[in-house]
Amino acid sequence: MTRRIRKLAGTVLGAAMAIMGTAGTGAAADGIPYRQAADMLYLVMSSDRAVYTRMVVQRLTRDEKIITASEHFRDDMALPLPAQMFRFGAEMVADATEDFSYSLLSLHPINKKNGPGTALEREGLRHVADNPGENFYGEEKLGGRRYFAAVYPDYAVAEACVSCHNGHKDSPRTDARVGDVMGGVVIRIPID
Ligand code: HEC
Repeated sequence: MTRRIRKLAGTVLGAAMAIMGTAGTGAAADGIPYRQAADMLYLVMSSDRAVYTRMVVQRLTRDEKIITASEHFRDDMALPLPAQMFRFGAEMVADATEDFSYSLLSLHPINKKNGPGTALEREGLRHVADNPGENFYGEEKLGGRRYFAAVYPDYAVAEACVSCHNGHKDSPRTDARVGDVMGGVVIRIPID
């Protein structure tokens, strides 16, 4: 099973690295531009995230009431939260490559660690919250290195998203509705 996962992860990462390798030149004619590479990564991430939420969390917790989802999923013998699934993937990618990184953030986070950490993240999260349907793209310098950064809206794609967030004791926001922008996915690619 582990071998299978490694093999799968290798395939996905290999494809992503191939994209990044060509994007490194920055020129569209030489390969995929940063923006397009980030858009493609986001599409995979957001699709996997929606599928897990709808077909596992929403179905088993709310529709069929078979199991709960909890941040203490091991102790509670529950499903990991969608945000945790997302972070576990991001951590595996961070271990495997420096070619890109990603995270799930919000201006109104349940977990304070998921608030914006840079000026660009704050601006991007505000932009996607205020302009539904739009993405945000920019560049920033962190620790002496230049990055292309993209921020994408993270939508409440299922009722489970809003009922859990609105009812969570640490949530600053309690009026979210299905379809709302709950936060944003940040993808970062080093330019040099
Ligand atoms: C069963 C509860 C639950 C469900 C379902 C759920 N979340 Fe969360 N979500 C949380 C918790 C708890 C956190 C904080 C987790 C952490 O980082 O420790 C979180 C984190 C987040 C974050 C990062 C900012 C923050 O609040 O910390 C975003 C954005 C987010 N969720 C959006 C969504 C969306 C969109 C969905 C549906 C696709 C969803 N969540 C489903 C409980 C839930």
